[in-house]
Amino acid sequence: MQEPAYTRTAVALHWLIAICVIAQIALGLWMIGIPKDPPGIRAGWFNVHKSIGLTLGLLILFRVYWRITHRAPPLPETLPRWQRITAAASHHLLYLCMVVMPVSGYLGSSFTKYPIVFFGTKLPHWGWDAPALKEICSTVHLTTVVIMIAIIAMHLAAAVKHRLINRDGVFERMLVWRGPKTAPRD
Ligand code: HEM
Ligand code: HEM
Repeated sequence: MQEPAYTRTAVALHWLIAICVIAQIALGLWMIGIPKDPPGIRAGWFNVHKSIGLTLGLLILFRVYWRITHRAPPLPETLPRWQRITAAASHHLLYLCMVVMPVSGYLGSSFTKYPIVFFGTKLPHWGWDAPALKEICSTVHLTTVVIMIAIIAMHLAAAVKHRLINRDGVFERMLVWRGPKTAPRD
């Protein structure tokens, strides 16, 4: 029997955002180690990170809208209950992290005296220099990314398990070219 699958839009958004989020995490972790001297290089990379992050934020917003208006296909009944609960919980948490990351980054960057330069264009600077607020946002940004990395690792392990060990068609639900076990949607 064929399993229901995700829409092609959901699949495209999943992979585009997955690649960009992983690259953005790597960029973030790398850039915080750039020395402040000579000035300019660190700020330049920070603005690249902010620009990609804000673009990702808009994509994520669209993805959340798509998810709310298009239900996820139900997991196979053969899957143990605890696995269905864990999958749903981790997916919801991933969505939450995906929203918190750009929001905390944007707010934190607004509570400094520096404007955000979005791919070369200065954005309107509505915030003010507030070190305490900036510190809270930075803590949220860092804590969320640590949680996110842990869930992504678990998510990846689950995906590999379904693909290579269970071979139950769950992995293929998130592919454009699906195996014979999944029915196309959209
Ligand atoms: C999905 C989106 C994003 C991801 C995955 C991400 C990831 C990261 C990571 C891994 C770090 C290094 C760890 C840390 O210090 O927190 C970091 C730092 C930072 N990110 Fe992001 N980021 C995102 C969006 C943004 C946005 C939209 C902005 C600002 C507009 C931003 C501004 C910053 C800043 C200023 C830092 C340096 C540390 C700090 O001051 O808090 N990030 N980010
Ligand atoms: C890098 C390797 C990745 C692989 C192999 C992978 C694989 C998958 C697969 C197979 C599914 C479908 C599960 C199902 O049928 O229920 C899925 C769903 C999902 N993935 Fe990933 N994923 C990866 C990375 C990521 C990343 C980095 C994120 C978050 C930024 C993410 C967020 C999600 C979310 C939120 C869902 C649930 C989709 C929904 O129900 O709307 N994935 N992933």
